[in-house]
Amino acid sequence: MIKITAASKVYEEIKKTLLKRLDNVYRQDNHMGGPWITHCEQRLKDITGRKHAFIVTSGTSAITIMCLALGIKQRDNVSVINYSIPSTVMPLKLLGAKLSFCDLNKFGQQDVSNIRPTNKKAILTTGLYGDCHDHDQIKDLGIPILNDSAQCFLSKYKGIEATKFGDASILSFSYNKVVPVFGTYGAILTDRDDWAEKIKYMRKNGYVNNSQSTIEHIGIQAQPHPDKCVQLATSLDYVQKWQARRQEVAFTLREAFENIGLGMRQSPKYSHTNYHKFCIFVDDKIKFAHKLSKVGIEAHLHYTYNFSKNPLLSDNVNKKFPMTDFFIKHALTIPSHPWMTNKEIKKVIEGVKSCMNKKDYNIHP
Ligand SMILES: Cc1ncc(COP(=O)(O)O)c(C=O)c1O
Repeated sequence: MIKITAASKVYEEIKKTLLKRLDNVYRQDNHMGGPWITHCEQRLKDITGRKHAFIVTSGTSAITIMCLALGIKQRDNVSVINYSIPSTVMPLKLLGAKLSFCDLNKFGQQDVSNIRPTNKKAILTTGLYGDCHDHDQIKDLGIPILNDSAQCFLSKYKGIEATKFGDASILSFSYNKVVPVFGTYGAILTDRDDWAEKIKYMRKNGYVNNSQSTIEHIGIQAQPHPDKCVQLATSLDYVQKWQARRQEVAFTLREAFENIGLGMRQSPKYSHTNYHKFCIFVDDKIKFAHKLSKVGIEAHLHYTYNFSKNPLLSDNVNKKFPMTDFFIKHALTIPSHPWMTNKEIKKVIEGVKSCMNKKDYNIHP
């Protein structure tokens, strides 16, 4: 089976460096904090241009802490994307916020063009597939912006790192991301000194060391560990090479499918994508994914949720979100990653072609 991700191939490639570094880490007695964390945080600051970077244990915990830093509380109204991985909105629901949903646009990005600022505590922006929202449309609304840029690491918005936007932004280093670890990890990035001061406490249950007798912040257990940071640092060492190959694989797939009239998601003009996910449009994505699996190709349904229709998340189940409906029905992710061999790329192209019937051609949002 040609898989969407390739953790074992990542391991093969990095194991020499990784195991040497891990051996040093496991010979120590301290597994909280330390130089590997500082090293990774500095590299994230260098790459993104952010003033502060904090490694945490997942993208979801990063979103939670970003919400805590803003002080989101019960019944605060927050604008969010209507279609994503549930992790995007769960932290807000945990804190009791009320969600106002934005539909997607034809690029599969959060449509932020119609956000009404009245009574909004914040906008949570979420970039999908390797691109990001159109930040200029919201930058002057006067509302705090929390940027879920988990899928946008190394993408550019108008030439600037997509993770540079918002009062804070977050990263995920999940095994399927452009900088993967084994499992997941995450980071919060901000230029705000006041938030940076709070985040230090918030990622460690509200305290930094046991010598203090006061607790001034509510937080969660999300403090980083050297062994995971070794994985992250090692992936960062390889990321330029991986991104070059990721682009090559995506170009090859795109060229092959363009010629036959298979619909593919496009990037918005303002964005330089990181090629995180390769998204095709077919008539019925569930049936198509099933057919692909029969010819040895794994496909993912990213995504199947219309948050506005879920009574746990929304109290406005009747509003229409046509582009969400389109992506739920048609948008399918197929394997496109740096560890695919040329033979596997060819197999994916042939496999997709062989599964297409008349209805699968020329589907565009
Ligand atoms: C857009 C988005 N937000 C948040 C997350 C959550 O990240 P994690 O799985 O590291 O908690 C992900 C992970 O896939 C994501 O894609």
